[in-house]
Amino acid sequence: MGRLPHEVMLRPFDFSDVAALVQAVQENQPFLVRFLPWATPGYGAVQARQWVQASLEQWAQNLGFQWGLFRAGAILGAVGFHPIQWDIRSASMGYWLVESAGRQGLMTAAAAELLDWAFHRYRLREMWIEARETNRPSQKLAERLGFERRGHRSDGGSILVRYRLLSEAWDAGRVGGYFGSLG
Ligand SMILES: CC(C)(COP(=O)(O)OP(=O)(O)OC[C@H]1O[C@@H](n2cnc3c(N)ncnc32)[C@H](O)[C@@H]1OP(=O)(O)O)[C@@H](O)C(=O)NCCC(=O)NCCS
Repeated sequence: MGRLPHEVMLRPFDFSDVAALVQAVQENQPFLVRFLPWATPGYGAVQARQWVQASLEQWAQNLGFQWGLFRAGAILGAVGFHPIQWDIRSASMGYWLVESAGRQGLMTAAAAELLDWAFHRYRLREMWIEARETNRPSQKLAERLGFERRGHRSDGGSILVRYRLLSEAWDAGRVGGYFGSLG
């Protein structure tokens, strides 16, 4: 697993990002909507502002955060927690990239940063990823990060494949893996 290139910044979203977020989603709408139902043709400033507001509230309530991937002022994608279940120290994560930023290992590196935060700062016990059974790129991402397939569930009309990563497995994988490679 590689590192994020130094020109790619990972940071929380704020309201100054709304215009760039709208642009990224609109330009990639047909690509994103295949697996992300919120990426509708009508996605605009209202939706982007609501989402930034929700992610700031999520952070304020200590339920996790949403990071954007930024390069030269443009948004390349996002990676973040779905609300953390602190009572069982468990969470799931979501992510997306603009089409042109795909297949370069960027999301693998960004997700690894988030997992390190989840297990080492938040001391979570486990993390989940749910990907549609037709979403092979997302499944491969989970597998590459060391997640194990743990069954599936139906969600409306589609089947979601469930992947889990335990904290101990992440730590074991660090040796010679993503963080091991940092030297
Ligand atoms: C899921 C997503 C973030 C993966 O991004 P990515 O840039 O491919 O991630 P990485 O470059 O780190 O690669 C992850 C793996 O998927 C593979 N992959 C990427 N696109 C692929 C494709 N279209 N078909 C098959 N494999 C693909 C990569 O080759 C890599 O596999 P490898 O370990 O064998 O090399 C991206 O495809 C995306 O944003 N999709 C739309 C939104 C989405 O589906 N979000 C997730 C919802 S659960």
